[in-house]
Amino acid sequence: MALWGGRFEQGVGELTQEFGASLPVDKALYRQDIAGSIAHSAMLAAQGVISQEDADAIRAGLKGIEADIDAGRFAFDINDEDIHMSIEAELTRRIGEAGARLHTGRSRNDQVATDTRLAAKALAKELMSANLSLRDALVQAARDAGGTVLPGMTHLQHAQPVLFSHHLLAYVWMLARDFKRLAAAFDAADASPLGAAALAGTSYPLDRGMTAEGLGFARVIPNSLDAVSDRDFLLDLEYACSVMAVHLSRLSEEIVLWSSQEFGFITLSDAFSTGSSIMPQKKNPDFAELIRGKTGRVVGDLMQLLMTVKGLPLAYNKDLQEDKEGALDAAHTLSQCLAVMTGMVGTWTVNADRMRAVMRKGHLAATDVADYLAKRGMPFREAHAVVGHLVLTAEKRGVDIADLPFEEFKAASELFEPDITGALDLDAVVAARTTEGGTAPARVAEQLKLAEEAQSADARTVENLTPVVEMGQGA
Ligand code: ARG
Repeated sequence: MALWGGRFEQGVGELTQEFGASLPVDKALYRQDIAGSIAHSAMLAAQGVISQEDADAIRAGLKGIEADIDAGRFAFDINDEDIHMSIEAELTRRIGEAGARLHTGRSRNDQVATDTRLAAKALAKELMSANLSLRDALVQAARDAGGTVLPGMTHLQHAQPVLFSHHLLAYVWMLARDFKRLAAAFDAADASPLGAAALAGTSYPLDRGMTAEGLGFARVIPNSLDAVSDRDFLLDLEYACSVMAVHLSRLSEEIVLWSSQEFGFITLSDAFSTGSSIMPQKKNPDFAELIRGKTGRVVGDLMQLLMTVKGLPLAYNKDLQEDKEGALDAAHTLSQCLAVMTGMVGTWTVNADRMRAVMRKGHLAATDVADYLAKRGMPFREAHAVVGHLVLTAEKRGVDIADLPFEEFKAASELFEPDITGALDLDAVVAARTTEGGTAPARVAEQLKLAEEAQSADARTVENLTPVVEMGQGA
């Protein structure tokens, strides 16, 4: 019979027992559940609701159970329905009556909300650290890239040359924003529901501030109904995961393109590539593709929870039990993706010569040739048309605009002088883009410094987070 079996004449059916059980998922939260129970029982003793001896016995019993689960020697029984029942039932088997006093002034509704918030904090913190590691790898790659130039593209067509470091730093800024979203998700989770009991609070003299502090929560949730019903913190976490996954997917797509024969901009290390079972020559960017693929899964987890909470009346409803699987999956999947991406970026070879070679055909200096005329007095629109004709001439001859003889330029406009060659040099084209945030080497050096400062600030944020209860690995 379940722990709530008193008012029933029959046990739950086998099918519904299995259908209603969340143990296979929420056993991952065993550390959080034990921490919550220890904090609750210590507070009950401090408030004189249970004796100090009972609280000590509860604490010792729970620590023993935690050690057993950590060591993988705890036999979970599906008949226990969820991690809360599982641990409480085992505690009472081990320490007797004191164990049966643990649940005084508490409901599984505030218990599960507490456990889930503790888990969300731990997961957000892990992801924040993983986010910083990937940014480290990208910043290092940007530093290593030096003056390497690649064809910047719009519509996947050659547009203007940019520093490879500039391109990589764009991803660093995307990840810096992802970090902020994770920090916001951490903060959303950082409030204690414990003491809300089933939905209305209790008649026991609970000290909610004490349990909140004991568990490392920044604050107490002010409304007991909201405390047991709110899952926004999981939505925030899954949204943060989703946007970050989308960013990794975009980078993955570029890696797949860059490592193709057509581009050849990078070569992935063997450790981050796979072969084909039939084509001996193949070296595939499987892991970049898989990160791109797993993005669908992470975003799907967010969609699932949004749909699950839509239309739920206050307060706890069993639907809410469907909240944890997706959140754990999203965080776990993203954490794997971040680790793999960090390794991939840290070990690829950049083919700078190849990047330069492909820029011999795309007329990447065309904008600068038009700017050359505009700076000598021609209205820009007119200059655009003049250079458009030069590009057409070059296209017909199968050469780049930079390879046209000076006479062609002179025939197109009297304003062209021999110094036009300077405007055609791709390094000069890059160096000329001196706008703040532009690709000129001096600007990129400034940007690199800003990125490093943001990283140090975010690393300090991680150090200053409120305490977390780390996820256990034993279940
Ligand atoms: N396993 C449940 C969950 O994950 C715990 C809360 C159950 N509460 C209840 N009143 N049935 O949401």
